[in-house]
Amino acid sequence: MKKRRILITSALPYANSNQHLGNVAGAYLPADIYARYQRLKGNEVLYICGSDEHGVPVTISAMNEKTTPKAIIDKYHFENKEAFEKLGMSFDNYSRTSLPIHHQTAQEFFLDLYNKGILIEKKDKQLFCVKDNMFLPDRYVEGTCPYCQNPDARGDQCEKCGNILTPETIVNPKCKICGSTPEVRETKHLFFPFGKYQKELEEYVFSKKDWKENVIQYCQGWFKAGLEDRAVTRDMEWGIKVPVPGYENKVIYVWIEAVLGYVSATKEWALNNNQPDKWKEFWCNEETEYYAFIGKDNIVFHCIIMPAMFIARGGFILPKNVPANEFFNFEGKKFSKSRNWGISLKEFLEHFPPDPLRYTIAINLPETHDTDFYWSDFQARNNNELADILGNFVNRTISFANNYFNSTVPERKTISALDSEIIDYMKIAPKRIEDLFEKFKIRDGVIEIMNVARKANKYFNDSEPWKTRKENPDQCATTINICLEIVRLLSIITEPILPFTAEKIRKLLNLPKTEPGSWDTAGELQLAYGSTINKAEILFTKIEDEMLKPLILKYSNPNSEETKSNSKIEPIKETITIDEFKNVDIRVVKVLECEKIPKSTKLLKLKVKLGNEEKTIVAGIAQHYEPENLIGKSIVILANLEHAKLMGIESQGMVLAAKDSNGNLSLLFPDKEISDGSIVG
Ligand code: 2FM
Ligand code: ZN
Repeated sequence: MKKRRILITSALPYANSNQHLGNVAGAYLPADIYARYQRLKGNEVLYICGSDEHGVPVTISAMNEKTTPKAIIDKYHFENKEAFEKLGMSFDNYSRTSLPIHHQTAQEFFLDLYNKGILIEKKDKQLFCVKDNMFLPDRYVEGTCPYCQNPDARGDQCEKCGNILTPETIVNPKCKICGSTPEVRETKHLFFPFGKYQKELEEYVFSKKDWKENVIQYCQGWFKAGLEDRAVTRDMEWGIKVPVPGYENKVIYVWIEAVLGYVSATKEWALNNNQPDKWKEFWCNEETEYYAFIGKDNIVFHCIIMPAMFIARGGFILPKNVPANEFFNFEGKKFSKSRNWGISLKEFLEHFPPDPLRYTIAINLPETHDTDFYWSDFQARNNNELADILGNFVNRTISFANNYFNSTVPERKTISALDSEIIDYMKIAPKRIEDLFEKFKIRDGVIEIMNVARKANKYFNDSEPWKTRKENPDQCATTINICLEIVRLLSIITEPILPFTAEKIRKLLNLPKTEPGSWDTAGELQLAYGSTINKAEILFTKIEDEMLKPLILKYSNPNSEETKSNSKIEPIKETITIDEFKNVDIRVVKVLECEKIPKSTKLLKLKVKLGNEEKTIVAGIAQHYEPENLIGKSIVILANLEHAKLMGIESQGMVLAAKDSNGNLSLLFPDKEISDGSIVG
């Protein structure tokens, strides 16, 4: 198959703060998983990112931290770059918009639009703070949103309703520096006539049948309202000077030049690789597929503003897809530095290795709705999935080969029906994951990858090599050979999510690093008989409650006044006798099946095993658990509750769960292996 040329960008983070886990989930980790997967497919991939170093966010941080914008961008550029490296982000270039190459690229692009007569000069009324003697750019103005009445709207955008604002439209505006009410003064700016390009933009967006529904709908909202002229210059010091006479004291509006940061970062990459013109292959060749990964607050800039600029200038390709994610919150609330809610990537990686974080975020990606990071989920994903499923399978296989096959790959001699079944499954597994990744269903792809490890454990158990070792040595050799082949398969397909672990797994098998194209042969049986492997080593360390406690206190601040006032603890109910309690039959059960109930957003239908009995239970937990994540888990139920019909299904018990006053819900899981049917009491 022909190699595809794929350009991937992640939104350039503002170099004014440390990136937090919510940012990672929005635009960075999914793009990295996609880039790593495409490289394994053998496609030509260029993955670009860097710091967005101009604009008001930077000057406001400088003001708050009582330093210069330059000091701010230097601090946060390097801190974010290092944190991303530790997370295993595989950028081909992580650039900065303060570099001369970017200033030149942006000025040249801007001047070209100006010379073509596209930009229009208009007199504009703008807010001016008499006290600070300056025009107040967007984020220097705060006030009430004219659309949703949010009293804390910023001059450029209302975070509550998402509408883009201009300082003049804000109700009851205040200067962010001194708090006084600014006055309106006249200034002149260059405007980009977005309305002129509306038709072409509509054709572009509506031709994309595979774009996410939320992205299309968002654009549709903009088109309905009608695109208007927008100022592309600002009265500010910090930024890229407008290269037009009469505009010497103004800078290019940050969003206009920031999106060009992708282009200049590609130019820088090409220069560093001694192929100065190679950037054009990525930006100016229709055969290149361009994917722009962003969070949902960036949709308008990537689906309307950037394409309009490229259409106006001509010669640039437009994104083939913009897989925008929803928000990833922290323990049920938005990340907020001022409210001490949430943890930065930098801080997180000071406590834990990167792969468990990558996995936890990847399996909770906010692809279709807002999702959350929970410490308890992180712990459970690490302990119950990475360690107990993936780590356990690799470990038991390698240990078995170490102990009974002298650390070599045994031969497949006899092939049983069980063996054939798993060999067939191995062949199709990469393809199934691939189909999901190609549709940007990264989360589902990750679930499918863990299912391979689940299936592998089942194969190991069902094959009982500890028995066949004595009773049927040839069969035992075949089982361990196939298990080692699955370990090899896992070393390839886990790489996009768990790059550090995948490399360790390859070392266990004495295999070199994966190469472009490895994905397509991942499901084949390729290990040479008799080749040596290394000694087993633990891949994932369990996370104990004690490790989390100080972090929960520090970053989820449960003692803050705000949190305290939110947590209304229910009073303890009246005392009951032990005999009354004995009437209640609480049991541990194993979840055999679990699925969503059509037309219900809240209910899941579970089939559970209670000793020899099976029960169907309908539980209102759909907003808190994904069905596939519960299958195989032990949970606790009230077994002797009167049966009731819910959505036409007879529920034969009640799943027990804890719910706090913020609406967080947690099922009860036994903390060690215990058989289903066990009595709780
Ligand atoms: O939202 C942000 O963090 C912006 N700095 C994203 C910019 S993306 C592109 F324009 F560079
Ligand atoms: Zn002021």
